[in-house]
Amino acid sequence: MCGIIGYTGNKDAREVALEALRSLEYRGYDSAGITAFDGDGTLRTVKSVGKIKALAEKLHSGAAFSSHTAIGHTRWATHGAPTDYNSHPHGTDRVMLVHNGIIENYAELKSELLAKGYTFRSETDTEVAAVLLDSLYRGDPLTAIREMTKRVRGSYAFGILFADRAGEIYAARSGSPLIVGIGEGERFIASDITAILRYTKKYVTLDEGMIAVLHDAGVDIYGRRGDKVDYKIDTAHWDVHAAERGGYPHFMKKEIFEEPDAIRKTLSPRLFDGMPDFSDEGLDTARVAEARKITLVACGTAMHAAYLGKLFFERYAGIPSAVEIASEFRYASPIIGKGDIIIAVSQSGETADTLAALRLAKEKGAYAIGIVNAVGSSIAREVDTVLYTWAGPEIAVASTKAYTVQGSLFFLLALALAHVRGSLADAEIKRLARVAYYDLPAAVSAILEREDELRREAQKLKDVKDLFFIGRCADYYGALEASLKLKEISYIHSEAYAAGELKHGTISLIEDGTRVVALSTVEAVEEKMGSNVKEVIARGAKVFSVVSHGALSLDALSDGVFRLPALDEAVAPIAMATALQLYAYHAAVARGCSVDQPRNLAKSVTVE
Ligand code: M6R
Repeated sequence: MCGIIGYTGNKDAREVALEALRSLEYRGYDSAGITAFDGDGTLRTVKSVGKIKALAEKLHSGAAFSSHTAIGHTRWATHGAPTDYNSHPHGTDRVMLVHNGIIENYAELKSELLAKGYTFRSETDTEVAAVLLDSLYRGDPLTAIREMTKRVRGSYAFGILFADRAGEIYAARSGSPLIVGIGEGERFIASDITAILRYTKKYVTLDEGMIAVLHDAGVDIYGRRGDKVDYKIDTAHWDVHAAERGGYPHFMKKEIFEEPDAIRKTLSPRLFDGMPDFSDEGLDTARVAEARKITLVACGTAMHAAYLGKLFFERYAGIPSAVEIASEFRYASPIIGKGDIIIAVSQSGETADTLAALRLAKEKGAYAIGIVNAVGSSIAREVDTVLYTWAGPEIAVASTKAYTVQGSLFFLLALALAHVRGSLADAEIKRLARVAYYDLPAAVSAILEREDELRREAQKLKDVKDLFFIGRCADYYGALEASLKLKEISYIHSEAYAAGELKHGTISLIEDGTRVVALSTVEAVEEKMGSNVKEVIARGAKVFSVVSHGALSLDALSDGVFRLPALDEAVAPIAMATALQLYAYHAAVARGCSVDQPRNLAKSVTVE
């Protein structure tokens, strides 16, 4: 949510910032802006409502000047509408800053500053932080930043320029992600590594409360107590191409097509002699297997994947598991403590609600595991054990490959727990592990080859306003995810319903022509699904059925059918997700929507 960048080095700083903002655009695209030192050491700012393209046009149509130090921002609006004047950077003649996060006590600080005679040009919380910093600045940037960060409450990652410190960038973080990139004769700050991969793979992750100073001679980092600290430089293993579209029309499509590989990459390091093994990652499987209960916290798509985790843990290892919406968890008096396991599931590893739920569970004594895609992210660093999903960067706002790898990882983890608990014979564990590692990615590839069938079905949604996804058991969880995906990118209103629950109210909404997508991969409830499909058809619904290879035929009843490739029922819900992602993708394309950057959304939700 909001992306920030800072550059100081020999290149044209405004162009580097612009390029980096293009990579960060998925974090918010309401407006963007850049402040740079010009050749005379004066701060110059250009900002524009809309996407980075609009900023680039404005920047290139203005006076050209060479600059070697700049900060930039791409905004997901929180306080104040998306307008030029609410765009970052914000500040005064002496101080300009960019911010990712929320200053919760901004109203109180603003009144205080207004009373002292300071004025404001925007409605944002960020401008309050900038003006506060100006009011505290007496020529020593570090002291002023420390005082300012003591006064603000909330979350922040700041990139700051002081007018009398040409060539220097100051950065501070608490609660929002920020890294410092270290290149050859150049230094960066960025919300995430994808922004700077084309320049350097070396980076330092700033810890909570740290302040960094980027200057000609290098980088200094200061800890909470104000002391200069040693820092460890990490090397990103993501290739620059991993964060590019690579010939695909959209990141979302590229990321869906990466799923077979991502599943294999996620599972293969955890398979030894055909058995699941998480010991290399320091996971205490015995401790997890003894747990009274596993609580999974997550948001959005990650939460839907967590439902698969619950299903697999209960089915294979017999461990009671519950999925909690992360944003609700901490306000619901959760019963969790020593002997319990919390699993935080997150692609970005930065989702504020998930992080808050995780911290609460840890405070209460739970053992914390993270299922995370972004290496070195906040959740990855705060859990007791992190299990990475090796999907590579996910750029499209709609999460796709993260879901299939999270589901696959849960499956393998459940098998590992089943081994410790003796709830499945080793031969069966090996068979299921083979199914996940070999058959699942092969089935996903086979689905991708049949993209045209899904495109044709999706085109039927061009003018549709409402749609229902129905399913039972695992397919109900699949319905939740398919519905989120469709509404998020195509703006078609849709609801996911447990098929058996329809007749308790919602079936009253079914009328002539209502679109229903019926999911059926669970053999035990196939006949019941058949009855539910007949019930909606009897009331005029047009049904598209997505069913497993051997499922009882719904063909005659349905307006359209997509039959999944032959695959063990155990992992079929994971493969089905890929088909439904493509279905949503083509519906959004058919309706001319902005697939990778749907309205009002941002990729990484770093505010609660
Ligand atoms: O980075 P996370 O996995 O923690 O993100 C959680 C949700 O914000 C995310 O899955 C969101 O729902 C997606 N846009 C759905 O496609």
